[in-house]
This record gives sequence, C-alpha cells and structure tokens, in this order.
Amino acid sequence: KVWQVNQHEHLMHDPKIKEAANWLRNGKLVAFPTETVYGLGADATDERAVAQIFEAKGRPADNPLIVHIGHRQTIGDYVKKVPDHATKLMDEFWPGPLTIILEAEKEFADNVTAGLDTVGIRMPNNSHALALLQVSRIPVAAPSANRSGKPSPTTADHVYDDLNGRIDGIVDGGRTGVGLESTVIDCTSDVPVILRPGGVTREDIESVLGEVEVAHEEDEKPKSPGMKYKHYAPDSPVWLVEGGVEKMRKTYEDLRAEGQTVGLMISQELADELGVDSELILGSRENVTDLTGHLYDTLRKVDTMAVDVVLAESFSREGIGEALMNRLERAATKII
Ligand code: TXA
Ligand code: MG
Repeated sequence: KVWQVNQHEHLMHDPKIKEAANWLRNGKLVAFPTETVYGLGADATDERAVAQIFEAKGRPADNPLIVHIGHRQTIGDYVKKVPDHATKLMDEFWPGPLTIILEAEKEFADNVTAGLDTVGIRMPNNSHALALLQVSRIPVAAPSANRSGKPSPTTADHVYDDLNGRIDGIVDGGRTGVGLESTVIDCTSDVPVILRPGGVTREDIESVLGEVEVAHEEDEKPKSPGMKYKHYAPDSPVWLVEGGVEKMRKTYEDLRAEGQTVGLMISQELADELGVDSELILGSRENVTDLTGHLYDTLRKVDTMAVDVVLAESFSREGIGEALMNRLERAATKII
C-alpha cells in the first residue's frame, strides 16, 4: 500500500499517517521519508518484525539497524547513559541527519543491534517521519529502504522498485532533501569517533565538541559493521576521475576511440568545460546539496542505460563534500 501524503500543518492528525503508524504498531514493515533517504521501518521492540527487515532487504544479519525516535526525551529508555558530548550533539543537531551510538539498554529486540551492546539512535528532521514516530509512540528500527547493495532510495518510487511485494506499505512524502545517509558518530568513548560521514559535517561537529576522531575504512575491523560492505555499485563499472578536466577529457576520448560507450556522471560546469551533453548530470558545483541530492537516483539511472563504463567527477571534500566523495568512492570500481 502506498500512502500519498502531502505536506501540511497537521500531519499528526492525518488519517493516512495514523493508519501507517498503526501498521507499524502491529508489526508491519512501513517505509517512510526522512531528510536523508527513505527508511524501512519496523517496531524496534518486535523481534519478528525486525527480522523481516533483514529478510526484505537481503541484509546481512551482522549489520545493525538505526533506531528512530520522535521525542528526544525518550532516549533514556533505550540507552544506559547519555554522556555530555552526546547531549551537546543532540542540542545542536537534532532533529537532523546525525546518528549517535551509545550503550544500549535492553529495551528492544536483540536483532536490532545485531548482538552489539551499543545502539545507534537518531531523531530525523522530516515532518512525515516525525509525525509517524510521534503518533506510533514506538522506537522504529529503520535502515535505508533499498535492497542491500543498491543505492539508498531518495523517492518513494525507488522504494517501490526495490521492495514492492516484500514490505507492507510506503508513506510517500516526496523526494528527500540531503540525499545521503546520516552521519554516524560513536559517543561511547571519551573522544567521539565519526564512523560514517553524512549530512552533519565534521566541521559542524568540531565547532561544538572540538576535535573528534574519524574512523578509516581501511581499518582492519571496521567499528561500523555496515562500512565493510561494498555499496551503491551500479552494474556498469564506475571510474572515479581525480585528475581534473584534462584527465577527464583524455580518458573520455581514449575510451570512445576504443569504441566504448561512456557515461559521464559530472557537474554541469564540467559538462560545459568538456563541451558535452550528459544524461547523468548531478547538478551544479555551486550547490553541493544539489549534487548530494541527485547522486543516488543518478546511480540508479546508470543501470537503465547501456554504457560500458561511467566516468565520475571527483569533488571538493569540504563540508558535506566529504560524504559525497565517500559514497562516490564506494560506488567506484577504480579511482584514476
Ligand atoms: O540517514 C540514515 O541514517 C538512514 C535513514 C533511513 O535514517 N538510515 C540508514 O541506515 O542509512 P543503514 O542501516 O542503511 O545504515 C546504518 C549504518 C550502518 O553502516 C551500520 O553498520 C551502522 O549505521 N550502525 C548501526 N548501529 C550501529 C552500532 N551500534 N555501532 C556501529 N555502527 C552502527
Ligand atoms: Mg543502507
């Protein structure tokens, strides 16, 4: 079932939101928009419902889920303690694209945390999501609502394409804004560690807490289990081109001379410099959230095109550029 819910002031009283919230309370799987990507929600206290999330996505059982809450005060029910630095982060960035890892209280199903003694909690900044969470009055476990290995969904259509027949419902609240998943930060140690770059940037966090650590993907044992899986890869190989416009031009021309069909996943500015048209324009460099907001649907589009190889532009790592480049690197088969 797809509930089309337009933005309005009283979403908490919207009969469709109420119905979707009831379905969640009854152990059903309901996808919903957040400010980052669509999530696939289930009652985090219901082990059977949570197991169905793993099943529907084809998600490895050792990859824990994020718990979404609609009221900040309820966090005490789900974690053992809230250290000062976590409180500061919540004050500053919640509701928003920041997932905070804390020591778990055993209030929810074991499979939510994949057996870890920590849990990731986040309060999303999206009015549909907040209304759904507040009306349902349950903690909602929700990974991104894609099949495992596919790009995360930024529209209800993406969710439908990936999961129709495998889940119970979708709340369609339009396209998501940020377009990349939340920042994940581990606050169980004295110095917090960013495990996944996302919508809240390192600069944002350091302006509140001072210096924090950043986990590297090459680390032997990734602290965030999800980071060890190859994500977002389209069927065609993607080459991330780091050498600037001349490198891009030469690589493009060489491949074409070999008779290959080449897709260009680039900014409008680079397309203009190269003097080419592309069906895979991400947006303008002047507006980074345009680039992040269109990355995943552009990667999905690659799979509908018959291209031998995709050349992807690399961008500045400033601010949310760090998260954008992280996802591009994960989509890439090689970096040249
Ligand atoms: O923006 C988002 O975060 C979206 C929306 C739906 O909220 N959700 C999302 O969930 O991206 P998912 O499951 O695709 O990614 C969750 C990430 C995974 O990399 C997972 O390993 C990590 O968070 N994670 C979850 N719980 C953790 C924990 N206790 N310790 C370390 N990492 C954890
Ligand atoms: Mg995901």
